[in-house]
Amino acid sequence: MFYLLIYIVFITHHKSVSCEEVCYKDSCSDPDVESRYLFYDVNPPEGFNLRRDVYIRMAVLMHKLKKSRDPALNSFKLVLPTWSHLVHWSYSEVPEFLPWSTFFDMPSLQKFAPVMELHEYFTSLKRNKYTKLLLDRVYILQHFEDMFETGNFEEKWKVEKCQKAPKSRYFYYSNITSNNVKCISFHGPATKLSEVFKKTNARTILLEHTEVALHDHFGSKIYWEARRSMRFNFNLREIANQFRETYLNSNDVNDNTFLAPDWLNDKVFIKQIVFDLRE
Ligand SMILES: *[C@@H]1O[C@H](CO)[C@@H](O)[C@H](O)[C@H]1NC(C)=O
Repeated sequence: MFYLLIYIVFITHHKSVSCEEVCYKDSCSDPDVESRYLFYDVNPPEGFNLRRDVYIRMAVLMHKLKKSRDPALNSFKLVLPTWSHLVHWSYSEVPEFLPWSTFFDMPSLQKFAPVMELHEYFTSLKRNKYTKLLLDRVYILQHFEDMFETGNFEEKWKVEKCQKAPKSRYFYYSNITSNNVKCISFHGPATKLSEVFKKTNARTILLEHTEVALHDHFGSKIYWEARRSMRFNFNLREIANQFRETYLNSNDVNDNTFLAPDWLNDKVFIKQIVFDLRE
C-alpha cells in the first residue's frame, strides 16, 4: 500500500511537471500535443526540380488533409526537409542544411498548406528540453516489384518486406532517429497516403522516397494553386529583377509580367491591370 502511494505521488507529480502538460495548458506553439507531423524526403540523387515537384504532391495532400473532418488527419503539419548533400551542388560554395525560406516565400506556401521548417520544429523541441528527435514511425516507400511485369497499375499499398536494407538518412542529422522503420509498397497518388495515416496513431511520421507517390491530377486547378503558392523569396526576386534589367533589358512593366503580391489575388490583379490599361 505504501509503495502504491509513493507510486501514485510520483506519477501525479511527474505528470504535473511533464513538459507536454505544461505546453498544452500554456498553448505554446509546436510541437503541440494536438498536432501530427509529417516529415518527408526524396531519393538522395534527385535535384532541385524533382524536389520542387514532389513538394507539390505533398502540399496537395496536406491541403486535402486539412479539409478533412477527421481530427487525426486535419491536425497534420508538413515539416520541410532541409536542402543538403544535393549532388549537383558544390558544397564548398553552398552551405548545408538550407531551409526552404532560402528559396521560397514561406508565408506564400502556408497560404496553401500547413507547412513548417525543420529548424522551427527543432526550436520547439529544444524549448521543451529535448536534444534529439525520435520519430514514431519511418515508412520507406517502394514500388510493387511485379507491377511492370503484370501491368497491373491499380492503386494500392501494402506494408511489405523491404526490397533494400531499410535505411533512412534522417536528412543527414545525427540527432534524428527512429526505432520503427517499415517499408510500404505503394502505387497511387500522394493523397492515398492518408489511408496509411489512418492506420496508425504515430504523431511523427517520416516518409522516405516520397517521389514514389504520384500527382493526384497533374495540371488540375488544385495542382496550379499549389504551384502558384511556390513564390520565390523576395531577395531572390530582387536579384532576378536586377539581372533582367542589366542583361536582358527586361522588367515587369515592359514585359507585362506583373504578379499580385499575394498569389491568391493573381487573377484579380491581372484583371485590374487590364482595366487600368483600358482607362
Ligand atoms: C540537431 O542538430 C542540428 C544540427 O546540428 C541542430 O541545428 C538542431 O538544433 C539539433 N536539434 C536538437 C533538438 O537539438
